[in-house]
Amino acid sequence: MIHIKNSKEIQRMRDAGRLAAELLQETGARVKPGVSTLELNDFAESFTRKHGAVSAPLNYKGFPKSICTSINNVVCHGIPSSADVLKEGDIMNIDVTVIYHEYHGDTSRMFKVGSVSPEAEQLIADTEESMWVGIRTVKPNNRISDVGEAIDAFLTPKGYGIVRDLTGHGIGKNFHEDPPVPHYRQNQVRTRMQPGMTFTVEPMVNRGTWKVNFSKEDGWTVTTADGSLSAQFEHTVLVTDDGFEVLTRLEN
Ligand code: MF3
Ligand code: CO
Ligand code: CO
Repeated sequence: MIHIKNSKEIQRMRDAGRLAAELLQETGARVKPGVSTLELNDFAESFTRKHGAVSAPLNYKGFPKSICTSINNVVCHGIPSSADVLKEGDIMNIDVTVIYHEYHGDTSRMFKVGSVSPEAEQLIADTEESMWVGIRTVKPNNRISDVGEAIDAFLTPKGYGIVRDLTGHGIGKNFHEDPPVPHYRQNQVRTRMQPGMTFTVEPMVNRGTWKVNFSKEDGWTVTTADGSLSAQFEHTVLVTDDGFEVLTRLEN
Protein backbone atom coordinates (compact mmCIF):
# COMPACT_ATOMS: atom_id res chain seq x y z
CA MET A 1 0.00 0.00 0.00
CA ILE A 2 1.35 3.41 -0.94
CA HIS A 3 1.03 6.03 1.77
CA ILE A 4 0.15 9.50 0.47
CA LYS A 5 1.53 12.14 2.82
CA ASN A 6 -0.60 15.07 4.04
CA SER A 7 0.84 18.58 4.43
CA LYS A 8 1.93 18.02 8.03
CA GLU A 9 3.72 14.81 7.07
CA ILE A 10 5.32 16.52 4.07
CA GLN A 11 6.78 19.17 6.38
CA ARG A 12 8.24 16.40 8.56
CA MET A 13 9.68 14.74 5.45
CA ARG A 14 11.28 18.08 4.47
CA ASP A 15 12.84 18.42 7.91
CA ALA A 16 14.17 14.85 7.91
CA GLY A 17 15.44 15.27 4.34
CA ARG A 18 17.29 18.47 5.16
CA LEU A 19 18.97 16.89 8.18
CA ALA A 20 20.02 13.87 6.09
CA ALA A 21 21.52 16.22 3.49
CA GLU A 22 23.47 18.12 6.15
CA LEU A 23 24.69 14.86 7.65
CA LEU A 24 25.90 13.63 4.28
CA GLN A 25 27.70 16.90 3.57
CA GLU A 26 29.40 17.00 6.97
CA THR A 27 30.40 13.34 6.89
CA GLY A 28 31.70 13.64 3.34
CA ALA A 29 33.81 16.64 4.33
CA ARG A 30 35.87 14.21 6.46
CA VAL A 31 36.80 11.95 3.54
CA LYS A 32 40.55 11.91 2.86
CA PRO A 33 43.39 9.38 2.56
CA GLY A 34 44.16 7.64 5.86
CA VAL A 35 40.65 8.01 7.34
CA SER A 36 38.83 4.77 8.14
CA THR A 37 35.18 4.22 7.32
CA LEU A 38 34.59 3.53 11.03
CA GLU A 39 35.74 7.08 11.83
CA LEU A 40 33.21 8.41 9.29
CA ASN A 41 30.53 6.20 10.86
CA ASP A 42 31.28 7.44 14.37
CA PHE A 43 31.20 11.08 13.26
CA ALA A 44 27.84 10.48 11.54
CA GLU A 45 26.34 8.76 14.58
CA SER A 46 27.28 11.61 16.91
CA PHE A 47 26.15 14.31 14.44
CA THR A 48 22.79 12.56 14.11
CA ARG A 49 22.26 12.29 17.87
CA LYS A 50 23.36 15.87 18.45
CA HIS A 51 20.56 16.96 16.14
CA GLY A 52 17.93 14.96 17.99
CA ALA A 53 17.63 12.27 15.34
CA VAL A 54 18.25 8.53 15.09
CA SER A 55 20.44 6.67 12.57
CA ALA A 56 17.99 4.49 10.66
CA PRO A 57 20.53 1.89 9.44
CA LEU A 58 21.75 1.03 12.99
CA ASN A 59 20.14 -2.30 13.89
CA TYR A 60 17.88 -2.16 10.81
CA LYS A 61 17.30 -5.85 10.09
CA GLY A 62 20.50 -6.40 12.03
CA PHE A 63 22.72 -3.90 10.16
CA PRO A 64 25.54 -3.22 12.66
CA LYS A 65 26.51 0.41 11.91
CA SER A 66 24.98 3.87 11.39
CA ILE A 67 25.83 4.55 7.73
CA CYS A 68 26.78 2.53 4.65
CA THR A 69 30.24 3.07 3.14
CA SER A 70 30.73 1.34 -0.21
CA ILE A 71 34.19 1.54 -1.77
CA ASN A 72 35.18 0.83 -5.43
CA ASN A 73 33.61 -2.53 -6.44
CA VAL A 74 31.22 -2.46 -3.48
CA VAL A 75 27.77 -1.61 -4.86
CA CYS A 76 26.02 -0.76 -1.57
CA HIS A 77 25.53 -1.73 2.09
CA GLY A 78 29.27 -1.65 2.86
CA ILE A 79 29.78 -1.89 6.63
CA PRO A 80 32.07 0.74 8.17
CA SER A 81 35.20 -0.80 9.68
CA SER A 82 38.49 0.31 11.22
CA ALA A 83 40.13 -2.05 8.69
CA ASP A 84 38.82 -0.05 5.73
CA VAL A 85 41.23 2.87 5.46
CA LEU A 86 40.69 5.21 2.51
CA LYS A 87 43.50 5.57 0.03
CA GLU A 88 44.24 7.92 -2.86
CA GLY A 89 42.26 6.90 -5.95
CA ASP A 90 39.38 5.20 -4.11
CA ILE A 91 35.80 6.10 -4.89
CA MET A 92 33.18 5.67 -2.19
CA ASN A 93 29.47 6.00 -1.73
CA ILE A 94 28.28 7.22 1.66
CA ASP A 95 24.59 6.47 2.26
CA VAL A 96 22.90 8.10 5.26
CA THR A 97 19.36 7.81 6.56
CA VAL A 98 17.98 9.66 9.58
CA ILE A 99 14.74 9.30 11.50
CA TYR A 100 13.66 12.75 12.67
CA HIS A 101 10.31 13.38 14.35
CA GLU A 102 9.28 9.89 13.16
CA TYR A 103 10.02 10.43 9.44
CA HIS A 104 12.92 9.19 7.31
CA GLY A 105 15.31 11.11 5.06
CA ASP A 106 17.56 8.94 2.84
CA THR A 107 20.37 10.22 0.61
CA SER A 108 23.73 9.12 -0.74
CA ARG A 109 26.46 10.32 -3.05
CA MET A 110 29.93 9.46 -4.28
CA PHE A 111 33.16 10.86 -2.83
CA LYS A 112 36.58 10.74 -4.45
CA VAL A 113 39.65 10.12 -2.34
CA GLY A 114 42.23 12.46 -3.83
CA SER A 115 42.42 12.16 -7.60
CA VAL A 116 40.80 9.16 -9.25
CA SER A 117 41.05 7.47 -12.66
CA PRO A 118 39.30 9.02 -15.71
CA GLU A 119 37.07 5.90 -15.82
CA ALA A 120 36.00 6.48 -12.23
CA GLU A 121 35.37 10.18 -12.91
CA GLN A 122 33.17 9.33 -15.88
CA LEU A 123 31.26 6.63 -13.98
CA ILE A 124 30.53 9.06 -11.15
CA ALA A 125 29.42 11.84 -13.50
CA ASP A 126 27.18 9.52 -15.54
CA THR A 127 25.64 7.96 -12.44
CA GLU A 128 24.79 11.33 -10.93
CA GLU A 129 23.28 12.54 -14.19
CA SER A 130 21.25 9.31 -14.47
CA MET A 131 19.72 10.01 -11.07
CA TRP A 132 18.62 13.46 -12.30
CA VAL A 133 17.30 11.99 -15.55
CA GLY A 134 15.15 9.70 -13.39
CA ILE A 135 14.05 12.44 -11.00
CA ARG A 136 13.00 14.70 -13.89
CA THR A 137 10.31 12.16 -14.88
CA VAL A 138 8.57 12.70 -11.54
CA LYS A 139 5.17 14.39 -11.85
CA PRO A 140 1.54 13.43 -11.26
CA ASN A 141 0.14 10.80 -13.65
CA ASN A 142 3.53 9.63 -14.87
CA ARG A 143 4.29 6.06 -13.89
CA ILE A 144 6.90 4.82 -11.44
CA SER A 145 8.26 2.74 -14.33
CA ASP A 146 9.04 5.96 -16.23
CA VAL A 147 11.93 6.56 -13.80
CA GLY A 148 13.68 3.34 -14.81
CA GLU A 149 12.86 3.78 -18.51
CA ALA A 150 14.60 7.16 -18.52
CA ILE A 151 17.61 6.05 -16.50
CA ASP A 152 18.09 2.95 -18.66
CA ALA A 153 17.79 4.93 -21.91
CA PHE A 154 20.52 7.26 -20.65
CA LEU A 155 22.95 4.63 -19.29
CA THR A 156 22.65 1.49 -21.40
CA PRO A 157 23.95 3.08 -24.65
CA LYS A 158 27.07 4.05 -22.66
CA GLY A 159 27.69 0.38 -21.83
CA TYR A 160 26.99 0.42 -18.11
CA GLY A 161 25.29 -2.31 -16.07
CA ILE A 162 22.29 -1.10 -14.06
CA VAL A 163 21.83 -3.07 -10.84
CA ARG A 164 18.53 -4.96 -10.85
CA ASP A 165 18.53 -6.67 -7.46
CA LEU A 166 18.11 -3.45 -5.47
CA THR A 167 15.74 -0.55 -6.16
CA GLY A 168 14.58 2.81 -4.90
CA HIS A 169 11.61 2.74 -2.55
CA GLY A 170 8.75 4.62 -0.99
CA ILE A 171 9.77 6.25 2.28
CA GLY A 172 8.05 7.94 5.21
CA LYS A 173 7.43 6.60 8.70
CA ASN A 174 9.02 3.44 7.33
CA PHE A 175 12.55 3.26 5.90
CA HIS A 176 11.29 1.18 2.97
CA GLU A 177 7.66 1.45 1.83
CA ASP A 178 5.78 0.78 -1.38
CA PRO A 179 6.34 1.35 -4.20
CA PRO A 180 9.65 -0.18 -5.27
CA VAL A 181 11.37 2.14 -7.79
CA PRO A 182 13.43 0.07 -10.27
CA HIS A 183 16.16 1.84 -12.24
CA TYR A 184 15.90 -0.38 -15.35
CA ARG A 185 13.53 -0.48 -18.29
CA GLN A 186 10.42 -2.58 -18.83
CA ASN A 187 9.81 -3.00 -15.14
CA GLN A 188 6.35 -3.87 -13.90
CA VAL A 189 5.75 -0.97 -11.52
CA ARG A 190 3.03 0.78 -13.52
CA THR A 191 1.63 2.70 -10.55
CA ARG A 192 0.84 6.33 -11.37
CA MET A 193 2.59 9.03 -9.38
CA GLN A 194 0.36 11.33 -7.36
CA PRO A 195 0.93 14.43 -5.21
CA GLY A 196 2.05 13.54 -1.68
CA MET A 197 3.95 10.39 -2.66
CA THR A 198 7.54 10.28 -1.37
CA PHE A 199 10.13 7.86 -2.72
CA THR A 200 13.83 7.57 -3.43
CA VAL A 201 15.65 7.49 -6.77
CA GLU A 202 19.00 5.78 -6.21
CA PRO A 203 20.55 4.13 -9.28
CA MET A 204 23.44 1.72 -8.66
CA VAL A 205 25.59 1.68 -11.80
CA ASN A 206 28.42 -0.71 -12.66
CA ARG A 207 31.22 -0.27 -15.20
CA GLY A 208 30.69 -3.93 -16.12
CA THR A 209 27.86 -6.39 -15.65
CA TRP A 210 24.67 -5.54 -13.72
CA LYS A 211 25.12 -8.76 -11.78
CA VAL A 212 26.03 -8.54 -8.12
CA ASN A 213 27.00 -10.82 -5.24
CA PHE A 214 25.65 -10.68 -1.72
CA SER A 215 28.25 -11.37 0.97
CA LYS A 216 27.80 -14.66 2.79
CA GLU A 217 30.33 -13.59 5.42
CA ASP A 218 28.72 -10.42 6.76
CA GLY A 219 25.22 -10.80 5.32
CA TRP A 220 25.23 -7.25 3.88
CA THR A 221 28.02 -6.19 1.53
CA VAL A 222 26.92 -6.16 -2.12
CA THR A 223 29.73 -6.30 -4.71
CA THR A 224 29.87 -6.34 -8.50
CA ALA A 225 29.99 -9.93 -9.84
CA ASP A 226 32.89 -9.08 -12.18
CA GLY A 227 34.86 -6.87 -9.78
CA SER A 228 34.18 -3.72 -11.79
CA LEU A 229 33.73 -0.28 -10.20
CA SER A 230 30.25 0.76 -9.05
CA ALA A 231 28.69 4.13 -8.23
CA GLN A 232 25.43 5.36 -6.72
CA PHE A 233 23.63 8.63 -5.97
CA GLU A 234 20.36 8.90 -4.04
CA HIS A 235 17.77 11.56 -3.25
CA THR A 236 14.42 11.39 -1.49
CA VAL A 237 11.78 13.14 -3.63
CA LEU A 238 8.21 14.34 -3.18
CA VAL A 239 5.62 14.33 -5.96
CA THR A 240 4.12 17.84 -6.03
CA ASP A 241 1.03 19.14 -7.87
CA ASP A 242 3.08 19.91 -10.96
CA GLY A 243 6.32 17.94 -10.66
CA PHE A 244 8.76 17.11 -7.91
CA GLU A 245 10.57 18.53 -4.92
CA VAL A 246 13.93 17.06 -3.88
CA LEU A 247 13.78 16.73 -0.10
CA THR A 248 17.45 15.86 0.49
CA ARG A 249 19.05 18.79 -1.32
CA LEU A 250 20.59 21.59 0.74
CA GLU A 251 19.85 24.35 -1.76
CA ASN A 252 16.12 23.85 -1.08
N1 MF3 B 1 20.04 3.55 2.72
C1 MF3 B 1 19.84 2.34 1.99
C2 MF3 B 1 18.78 2.65 0.95
O1 MF3 B 1 18.99 3.55 0.22
C3 MF3 B 1 19.42 1.19 2.83
C4 MF3 B 1 20.46 0.74 3.77
S1 MF3 B 1 19.83 -0.57 4.67
C5 MF3 B 1 21.03 -0.82 5.80
O2 MF3 B 1 17.72 2.12 0.88
F1 MF3 B 1 20.55 -1.64 6.66
F2 MF3 B 1 22.10 -1.27 5.20
F3 MF3 B 1 21.30 0.32 6.37
CO1 CO C 1 17.12 4.37 -0.16
CO1 CO D 1 20.04 5.17 1.15
